[in-house]
Amino acid sequence: KSPLKIAIAGLGTVGGGTVQLLHDQADLLASRAGRKLTLVGAAALVKPSDLPLDGVPFFTDARVMAKDCDYDVLVELIGGAGGIALDVVKTALERGRSVVTANKAMIAHHGVELARIAEAKGGNMGFEASVGGGIPIIKSLREGLSGNAVGKVMGILNGTCNYILTTMRDSGRDFADVLAEAQALGYAEADPTFDIDGIDTAHKLAILVSLAFAMPIDLEAIACEGIRHVSALDIRYADELGYRIKLLGVASRSEAGVEARVYPAMVPLSFPLAHVSGPFNAIVTEGDFVGRTVLEGRGAGARPTASAVVADLMDLARGRVMPTFGVPVDSLMPLPAASSGAH
Ligand code: HSE
Repeated sequence: KSPLKIAIAGLGTVGGGTVQLLHDQADLLASRAGRKLTLVGAAALVKPSDLPLDGVPFFTDARVMAKDCDYDVLVELIGGAGGIALDVVKTALERGRSVVTANKAMIAHHGVELARIAEAKGGNMGFEASVGGGIPIIKSLREGLSGNAVGKVMGILNGTCNYILTTMRDSGRDFADVLAEAQALGYAEADPTFDIDGIDTAHKLAILVSLAFAMPIDLEAIACEGIRHVSALDIRYADELGYRIKLLGVASRSEAGVEARVYPAMVPLSFPLAHVSGPFNAIVTEGDFVGRTVLEGRGAGARPTASAVVADLMDLARGRVMPTFGVPVDSLMPLPAASSGAH
């Protein structure tokens, strides 16, 4: 079989991790997919010297690569809801090629529009890495739970906030100090206000809601509060009462509609999410036949996120392609929102 030709746009934390994984695990991936996964292009403003990119055509303009390079799949790891990221993804999909992305902001804002292009042109769009880092939550909702009506999906969806809250509790250090550490470890967004004000969690929750309830994404319907105002004292008092403070994204479906919120919650120690620490994420789902499931793992960072990017590439290499949101785009049914917010 011919190799799967991959062009990668963006060689930062996740892009670098993905190049490394494709290199280090090349034999394992080829033996599982029955064909090689080959890089045919890489784009970044500056070529990193520490990545195994020998012989891979390099582009300083990702738009040029998206337009001219002969690839089967474009991997978008630039980030940002619009701009270059959106341009290169649209170009690839319009060319009938597939896209794999970790870009939660772009999927939350433009996912339905992009899925429609993919559907019309015969490409596919994978975004496993957009929620929960290395946790296979997209596949879980879209595939593993597809025999269930899902009533609830909730979780710790931001590694930076969970790292900050856990470290503040364990060390008594202050917020700003711990945030700087999360940035240095590669967990935080380029603009960390997206993390600490809950916007990143809202992006991810919006994506989960669309998959869990087969709804078009509606970011505006998510009420959102971050962790900026959580103090060391709040954390200590919660502790004394047997709770942990966690930034949660919570969505549930009832007769009245869907309610979706992001907020710092007091989580009782008996609940599975209370013990999720550091940059870990965890997602709890409730399905009518399966009951509760809990998935936990590393929600941010180069290697875990690369693991999810490559899972989507493996689907394409195997020819195992799903509709973007599990159903054809025009079957996504809006439900009345039971709450409102704004982003
Ligand atoms: N800034 C995000 C986080 C990265 O901290 O979870 C992963 O989406």
